[in-house]
Amino acid sequence: MNLTNVLYETRDGFALITVNRPDKLNALNRATLEDLRVAFHAAAKDPAVRSVVLTGAGEKAFVAGADIGEIASLDAQIGRDFAILGQGLFRTIETFPKPVIAAVNGFALGGGCELALACHIRLASENAQFGQPEVNLGVIPGYGGTQRLPRLVGRGIAIELLVTGDRIGAARAYEMGLVNAVVPLAELLAKAGDLAAKISEKAPEAVRHCLEAVNAGLDMPLEEGCYMEATLFGLCCATEDMKEGTAAFLQKRKPLFKGR
Ligand code: COA
Repeated sequence: MNLTNVLYETRDGFALITVNRPDKLNALNRATLEDLRVAFHAAAKDPAVRSVVLTGAGEKAFVAGADIGEIASLDAQIGRDFAILGQGLFRTIETFPKPVIAAVNGFALGGGCELALACHIRLASENAQFGQPEVNLGVIPGYGGTQRLPRLVGRGIAIELLVTGDRIGAARAYEMGLVNAVVPLAELLAKAGDLAAKISEKAPEAVRHCLEAVNAGLDMPLEEGCYMEATLFGLCCATEDMKEGTAAFLQKRKPLFKGR
């Protein structure tokens, strides 16, 4: 895999994807977005990869935003294309068929906060800071922040963060439900790895359908969402893993799932 600004490693049951531009606090330029696309494609294709941990290189930043050097020269048309490009990648992450865990190891600002928002689970180190400071640059978030932040933390808190550009620490992010847990920086990757290991023991198709049901269902009326859930439940019932999971329970042994 030919990557410049992203590291891709496979660990036991998961892929570790690291945004690797520490001298620019891992800011997302176009080349980095393209590398992320390639890395996620590889993780999707590899059946040994059951989840993804996404983090930033160094101890200071997860991702400090879209690259402001690139934003500076945008005009109306190219600015719209720039947003659509990033949105496409972030939607790929949000709808990824395997859980994506953001291990937020420092600044998650602007596009970095939006990247974390597109992930399924967010773990933060104690030094993490979140914010949408785009109003300081005369723009708004362009990678889904105005849409995903209110869906996650509620409209009032999201609007306050968006219009003030304020940064918040990990403890406050936890209080408002922006992150699932806060851990010391030195333990962050290990905790994310533990979570990935736990997921890798579950039935892959059931995990995939959980993600699908939540992602699609949140945009549906409850009744339609439940109807879709029933369909996905039915699909699970047609898998070998369902037979294995139920048989293992009844035989009082550990299931061995095959992803079929
Ligand atoms: N785009 C491009 N470069 C960025 C960047 C971004 N979003 N964020 C940081 N960098 C670069 C800096 O320009 C600097 O590069 P240089 O050494 O070549 O000058 C390097 O990363 C280190 O950043 P620096 O500002 O010196 O670190 P700091 O510890 O003083 O401050 C921040 C850290 C995160 C508070 C500050 O870098 C910042 O405010 N970044 C922009 C955040 C932002 O507005 N993001 C939203 C963009 S839409």
